[in-house]
Amino acid sequence: MFEQKRFLMIPGPTPVPESALLTLAKHPLPHRSPEFSEIFMACNAGLKKIAQTEEATPFIYAASGTGGMEAVLANLLNPGEKVLSVVNGVFSKRWADMASGFGAEVKRIEVESGKAVQPEEIEKILNDDLNKEIKLVLVTFSETSTGVGNPLKEITSIVRKHGALIAVDAITGLGAMPLKMDEWGVDVIVSGSQKGFMIPPGLSFVWAGPRALEKHKQSKFPRFYWDWSKSIKALENQTTAFTPNVSFIAALHNTLNLMLNEGVENIWQRHERLKQCTRKSIEAMGLKLFASDEDASAAITSIIPPNNVSVSDLRKKLKNDWEIVVADGQVDLKGKIFRIGHLGFVFDRDVLTALSAVSRVLEDLGHDTGTRWMKVYEETLKAHKS
Ligand SMILES: Cc1ncc(COP(=O)(O)O)c(C=O)c1O
Repeated sequence: MFEQKRFLMIPGPTPVPESALLTLAKHPLPHRSPEFSEIFMACNAGLKKIAQTEEATPFIYAASGTGGMEAVLANLLNPGEKVLSVVNGVFSKRWADMASGFGAEVKRIEVESGKAVQPEEIEKILNDDLNKEIKLVLVTFSETSTGVGNPLKEITSIVRKHGALIAVDAITGLGAMPLKMDEWGVDVIVSGSQKGFMIPPGLSFVWAGPRALEKHKQSKFPRFYWDWSKSIKALENQTTAFTPNVSFIAALHNTLNLMLNEGVENIWQRHERLKQCTRKSIEAMGLKLFASDEDASAAITSIIPPNNVSVSDLRKKLKNDWEIVVADGQVDLKGKIFRIGHLGFVFDRDVLTALSAVSRVLEDLGHDTGTRWMKVYEETLKAHKS
């Protein structure tokens, strides 16, 4: 029975609120109905609020986040066009590889694993691009594989001065860290349902601002399902171009209401608090963090295990003894770090429970965490509670 209380502390899929689970259990709505149109349009309006935009058009795809990333490239680029891509982990590399695979000419800024990109590096390359050949800059807001957040506001202002478009993978960043699409001048955002949006994997969201929609008109990459023009035409009639994932969109309606009731700024604050509580407590247990305080994402914390403890043992014991799932490192970081997700439907109690279990398991595996971390957790919580 205990497995029914499985507790996901990974950066997606994230825990799902009961109201959304109940919505998912209902019979599907017919998609060409006034009832569904109302839900769909409310979701579009909610998505705009979450991304802090009035100008951008949201697109909802039945896809995982990667589908949304592909949709961005398919709608914006022409073969051979130059793209600048920041690569500081598995997911940012995926986007750069995808753009190369599509036939774009991709210049990569390779950043040391566990570090955020320095905006000056982007600035230098864009300043040297005198003929404005770089048409698109790809940035990952929260690089989930390392737990690093890139300084998006500064990057966007640099890209704006050059004139290229900026497209942001905010798949784990959105709903965790401040992102103001219109105010900052971000052209495109991608996210996914199983992250800050608190529903299972299955939907990808893309927001395209006015400059991106202009560029889209001249883009010749082949596309059909992903085509923004088709979706915009359908949107004029308050519907979708193809059969939408109606049950997930109904659940999204539910979680968007929860998010808007909490308030976007309050959501950012909650994630900042969870991040601080996690980081400070983990350090108080005598463990090292993989990303520095300045570079850390608010969605996920990457932790270096003590020398004598294997990540695999730690994860197995957390699962077997406590039904708590944390993530391993990915690719070359597998076994070198473990990652605690604190994204979406996650609150102070959840983080405290996860940290207590981590401490208990580390003790069992021979690392003395002491108890000071509990006081540190308490103090950090108080300091960040508004
Ligand atoms: C930053 C980031 N980008 C892209 C992806 C890929 O999304 P998906 O697995 O939904 O295709 C993920 C998934 O965790 C992610 O965290």
